[in-house]
Amino acid sequence: MKNSIQIAIDGPAAAGKSTIAKLAAEELGFTYIDTGAMYRGITYKALERHIDLENEEALTQLLLETLIELKPSNEGQLVLLDGDDVSDAIRSTLVTSSVSAVASHASLREEMVKRQLKMAESGGVVMDGRDIGTHVLVNAQLKVFMSATVDERAKRRQLDNERRGIDSDVNQLKKEIAERDKMDSERQASPLIQAQDAIYLDTTNLSISEAANHIIQLAKERMS
Ligand code: CDP
Ligand code: CDP
Repeated sequence: MKNSIQIAIDGPAAAGKSTIAKLAAEELGFTYIDTGAMYRGITYKALERHIDLENEEALTQLLLETLIELKPSNEGQLVLLDGDDVSDAIRSTLVTSSVSAVASHASLREEMVKRQLKMAESGGVVMDGRDIGTHVLVNAQLKVFMSATVDERAKRRQLDNERRGIDSDVNQLKKEIAERDKMDSERQASPLIQAQDAIYLDTTNLSISEAANHIIQLAKERMS
């Protein structure tokens, strides 16, 4: 019986990846790595510095000079940028609408993948994102491609916003989610796509614990 494996979780926006991945990681005693938070972090810094989001070289250079840390805490995973807590700031509407442009650049992604592989070096890991099963943890023992209908995902994001005290229109959210999925799926550099060896998990009608338990069960099967 192995006591640690790598689990790769990919899928479109608001499918439930981070919530479910975090819960499964806690149950399994594994490290959880939210790669979307890393792309959001560098996007936040680029916006602060007024860097042109089309300028691949400048953005990659900015990333090389930036320390991004993911730290578990009682309030969830903290995202530190050069030591500053930007966990809330990276969820802003502006960062959300800008992140896919930043994440489209191949050289910036290359540096991100290097860091993600380093983070996954020791012990069991659950990593979520868009290219984890296809480009980052290509040998992961368990790959899951998680999705849900766009209506359900927009409703979930609306509830997320409500909890953060932000009013939002569900139709607008639906449009934004669809646009981001399209950009992430159609880019040249490691687009969002289901890995051939990934299991498809539709979370539309699943609760968070049902989906997490499903993944935990699959992980236990892979470990035995
Ligand atoms: O949580 P949400 O689904 O809104 O997105 P996220 O996981 O925080 O990722 C934000 C954005 O980062 C995505 O829309 C992608 O453009 C990019 N991303 C990526 O390109 N590759 C990853 N492995 C993770 C995120
Ligand atoms: O990481 P990703 O963007 O894929 O999704 P998330 O941020 O983990 O989930 C978006 C929202 O949907 C969160 O508020 C989750 O609590 C909620 N959710 C849900 O209600 N039911 C599920 N089966 C999965 C997630």
